[in-house]
Amino acid sequence: MKNIFKILAFVVLAAVIFAGGIFTAKNFLTKKDLPPAPVSKFFDGAKELSGSIAKTSTGKIIEVKNGQRIQDAVMEAKPGDVIRVYPGTYNETVYVDKDNISFQGVVKGNDWPTLEGDHKLNDAFLYSGNNISIESFKIQNYKGNGVMGQSGNNFVISYNWIINSGVYGIFPEFGKNGLVEHNILTGIEDAAIYIGMCDNIDVRHNEVYGSVAGIEIENSRHALVEDNYCYDNSGGILAFITPGLPIKTCYDVIIRNNYVLNNNHVNFGAPGSIVSMLPAGTGIIVMAADDVIIENNFISGNDNAGIAIVDHKFLADIAVDPESEPNPDRISILDNFMYNNGNNPIKAVKAGMLTKLDSKGPDILHYGGGTGNCIRDVNRYRSFGLETYSRCELTSTSKVVSYLLNEPVPPRTSTPAERSRLTYYGVCSGCHAYNVRMVGPPTITIQAIYKDNPKGIADYITKPVHKRKDYPEMPPQNYLSEEMRIEVAKFMLTVQK
Ligand code: HEC
Repeated sequence: MKNIFKILAFVVLAAVIFAGGIFTAKNFLTKKDLPPAPVSKFFDGAKELSGSIAKTSTGKIIEVKNGQRIQDAVMEAKPGDVIRVYPGTYNETVYVDKDNISFQGVVKGNDWPTLEGDHKLNDAFLYSGNNISIESFKIQNYKGNGVMGQSGNNFVISYNWIINSGVYGIFPEFGKNGLVEHNILTGIEDAAIYIGMCDNIDVRHNEVYGSVAGIEIENSRHALVEDNYCYDNSGGILAFITPGLPIKTCYDVIIRNNYVLNNNHVNFGAPGSIVSMLPAGTGIIVMAADDVIIENNFISGNDNAGIAIVDHKFLADIAVDPESEPNPDRISILDNFMYNNGNNPIKAVKAGMLTKLDSKGPDILHYGGGTGNCIRDVNRYRSFGLETYSRCELTSTSKVVSYLLNEPVPPRTSTPAERSRLTYYGVCSGCHAYNVRMVGPPTITIQAIYKDNPKGIADYITKPVHKRKDYPEMPPQNYLSEEMRIEVAKFMLTVQK
C-alpha cells in the first residue's frame, strides 16, 4: 500500500513537472508571457542590438514592405541601421556582408514577415558581418540553412520561427559572443540549432522539435544551453567534437534546466552526415567533448537512453582525425530528473543492459574511453558503463549566469584568403560541388572554363547571364565586395575535392 502511494506521488510530481514543460511550450508558441531571460551584463547590450534597437541605434530605419526586397535594403544600409521588415512574403536569400545591421521583423497578430524558400532557395539569411541581429522572422522551406553566420561576432538571433528549412536551422559558424534565444524550430534535417566552431555562446529558451538533432554544440567552447524545450527529435541536445574540422576542441559546455523529452523521431539525416549515424531515441549525447556539465534537466521518454557519453568509436563510420582527441573527459553529471527512458533501446545497448539483467535502455550510458568523469548520485539512475565515474564534488553551476562577454568583442581578424575560403564553403558550395551536379554545374567544369581567369569568374558572379537551359539562373553575388569576388574566384579555381 505504502508503495502505491509513493508511486502515485511520483506520478503526480512527474505530471506536474511535465505539464510545466507543455505549459512553457504553449507560451513559446503564442509568444505571450515568455519566461524572463536570465539577467546578465551583456543582456543589456543584446537588447540594444535587438529589442530596443530603434531607440538606441545610431543609424536610420529602413522599412521593407510586402513586394519589396530585403536585399535592396541591405545594399542601402550603413552600419548602425535597422532594417524593419513588415508582414509579407519575401522569396529571397538575404546576404549581409556589413557590420552593425539589425533585422527587425514586425509581427502583427498571425502575420509574420515570412522568408519563403519554396523548396528552391538554399538559404534565408547568410551573414558575415559583426554585430548582426536577426529578430522575429518566419523562415520556411529553404534547402540549406535558415540563418547562417560566417565569422560574425556579437550576434543575436532571437524570436524567429523556422520551419522545414533544410540542413541547419540556425547555424552560426566561427562566431564569438552570440546569443540564440526564444526561437522555435522544426523539420530540420541535421541540427536545428547548430553552434559550429564558436566561443562564448548562450542558447536559451528555444523550442526545438521534429528535427534530427535538436541543439548541437560542435567544436565550440564556453557554451551555455539553458531552458530549452527539445522534444520529438532523433537526438535532443548534443555536445560533439566532430573530427576533420579546422578547430579541434569542444569544452566548457553547461547543459542546464532543459526539458529533453521523447526524442525518438526516425532519423532522416542525409546519408553520410554524422547525425545520420546517430541512433534515434537519445536525449543528450556528449561525443568526445570535454568539461561538460549536465545539470537539472528533465529527461524523459527517450527510448534508447537518457544521456549517452561516448567516444569517437561509438560511430563506426566516423572519419579518423589524428588531431582530435576522441574521448569525453571530465564530464560532470549533476542531479537531473530522469524518468521512463530506454523503452526501446538499440541492439548493442540492450545487449549491455541484459548483462545487468535489465531489458530497458539506461538513463545514463557511457561508452568508450574518457577520464576524470563524475556523477553526483549514481544510484538515482539506471546506468551502464559508469564504473570509472567518481562522485562529483561540484553541486551546482549557479555561479555561471551567462557565457556572453561583458563587452562586444572586436571582429575576428582573418586574411582575405581565409575569408574567401569561408565564402566559398558558406555560399558557393551550397550550389556547386566539386565533381557532381547540384543546383549549379560542378566546380571542376567551372575550373575548366575559367582556368587562369579568376577575373572572368568575378565578372560572371557579379551579373550572371543564364547560359544553360537545364540549370536555373544563378543569383548575382554583387553583395560581396569587389575584392572578395576576386578572392573567392581564385579560391574556386584551387578547390580539389
Ligand atoms: C543559389 C545557387 C548558386 C549559388 C549560391 C552560386 N551559384 Fe554559381 N551557378 C549556379 C547556377 C544555377 C549556375 C548555372 C547558370 C547557368 O548556366 O545559367 C551557376 C554557374 C556558375 C558559374 C559558371 C559561369 C559560366 O560561365 O558558365 C560560375 C563561375 C559560378 N557559378 C561561380 C559561383 C561562385 C564563385 C559562387 C559563390 C560566390 C556561386 N557561383 C554561387 C548557382 C549558384
